[in-house]
Amino acid sequence: MLSVENLQLQYSNIPVIQDVSFRVQKGEIVALIGGNGSGKSTIMKGLSGILIPIAGRVIFEKEDITKSDAHKKVAMGISLIPEGRRLFPNLSVFKNLLLGAYLTKDKEEIAKRLDYIYGIFPILQDRISQKASTLSGGEQQMLAIGRGLMSKPRFLMLDEPSWGIAPKLVDKIFSVINDIRRDGVTVLLVEQDVQEALEICDRAYVIQTGRVVMEGQGSELLKSDMIQKAFLGL
Ligand SMILES: Nc1ncnc2c1ncn2[C@@H]1O[C@H](COP(=O)(O)OP(=O)(O)O)[C@@H](O)[C@H]1O
Ligand SMILES: [Mg+2]
Repeated sequence: MLSVENLQLQYSNIPVIQDVSFRVQKGEIVALIGGNGSGKSTIMKGLSGILIPIAGRVIFEKEDITKSDAHKKVAMGISLIPEGRRLFPNLSVFKNLLLGAYLTKDKEEIAKRLDYIYGIFPILQDRISQKASTLSGGEQQMLAIGRGLMSKPRFLMLDEPSWGIAPKLVDKIFSVINDIRRDGVTVLLVEQDVQEALEICDRAYVIQTGRVVMEGQGSELLKSDMIQKAFLGL
């Protein structure tokens, strides 16, 4: 579904991603793991159109989207749930959700998508008119995921979904990621919690200083000495 070939990304002339290649097949959950500052979020920005690659190619369902802007990518079914959630704190839960569906004018379709999201996260329906800033960390992450799903993506990228969330809600978030995949959405996951990420994913790529240094099935990587030493504290 997605093929990333020799991607290079930089911030105002400072190279961050040197040469990254990976693939995501339709229906998979693929994880990118790596230490702080290794470039995971930068890759997500490059794929969502926030940052335009300086070299390499991104192919999505046979179309070259390397230089496509963020709106085009959303229209193609690509959605990013960014690191730190980026909600509109002073807008209600409802308005935040609606903003996720900004490309759709069809009221019935929007109502259908809202129902789907309330089914996954009933708490959002209870909090519908509350300001986003008044939600707990876990609820805000649910809202961020809900907003990301309002564009009805086929390819969903999640950047650190467990960040700043109480442990019992982390389980809920990961079980929802599984549900979303079961409903036909392909998932690219960046996650600090390497144990959880490797358990939930089919395959993972390890990123170090802007390069892929290792790849494999999640279950295999969980057993790897390098992963256990570097990320799992074993
Ligand atoms: N907006 C930015 N401007 C300049 N440098 C940045 C910016 N965002 C991130 N970086 C740098 O890029 C590198 C990779 O960051 P990032 O992709 O956020 O890593 P990760 O998500 O793996 O923690 C880091 O060295 C970081 O300091
Ligand atoms: Mg990051």
